[in-house]
Amino acid sequence: MAQDSFRGGTGKNLAVPMTLPLHRRVSLRPWAPGDRGFLVELMTDPEVRRYLGGAVDTDVAKERSERCTAPAPWGYFVIELDGVPVGTVTYDRKRGPWEVSFQLERGSWGRGVMSVALTHAVEWFRAIEPRTALIAVTQRENVAARTAIVRAGGRAESEFEHYGARQIQYVFAPASTTDVSAGGIDGSGSLECS
Ligand SMILES: CC(C)(COP(=O)(O)OP(=O)(O)OC[C@H]1O[C@@H](n2cnc3c(N)ncnc32)[C@H](O)[C@@H]1OP(=O)(O)O)[C@@H](O)C(=O)NCCC(=O)NCCS
Repeated sequence: MAQDSFRGGTGKNLAVPMTLPLHRRVSLRPWAPGDRGFLVELMTDPEVRRYLGGAVDTDVAKERSERCTAPAPWGYFVIELDGVPVGTVTYDRKRGPWEVSFQLERGSWGRGVMSVALTHAVEWFRAIEPRTALIAVTQRENVAARTAIVRAGGRAESEFEHYGARQIQYVFAPASTTDVSAGGIDGSGSLECS
């Protein structure tokens, strides 16, 4: 009888690679000049941009990726899976309080990467700003984004109409609920980087 080379007598299928738990494979680091091509791909992908106002024009995407990687604004992170860029998590103050936004390349959807990355990102923010308000806003229709926000600890707070669509605002509870401020680290509104 032919030997099953993948089992090696242990009963385990050695053809299946062992992988680390997801939370150890996902990391965040600041945007860098080497990410420009990847950032342009993200910004110009109509599926990724479906709930984010549509695909960005290629020339605009190139300008943003150059301006926003030299140097990267505060709180602008590339998500890496096993050291390879797969998405972004960014902090802006588009409407007053600090707001976290996020996107993944399509090939990385459906694997739990964003739930892990967003959880790391919120922990990072909380470590620096334990009492500063942090929100996330997404269209009601964007169920995948809403699920990732809730998995990372967000709680639906309010609903409103914007850009002709129903939006839900989520809040990430601060470590202390007393004396919560919308201030914290200086921000300059929306940097129009993504
Ligand atoms: C929003 C977005 C990041 C969500 O991506 P996602 O892949 O659904 O989210 P996650 O990475 O957390 O993965 C969750 C999925 O992986 C599955 N999954 C597999 N392994 C998992 C694990 N170990 N842990 C958690 N989920 C896991 C979950 O079941 C879920 O799949 P489901 O939707 O079929 O139930 C993605 O849709 C996207 O980039 N959209 C475009 C940008 C955008 O709209 N951003 C939001 C605006 S702020």
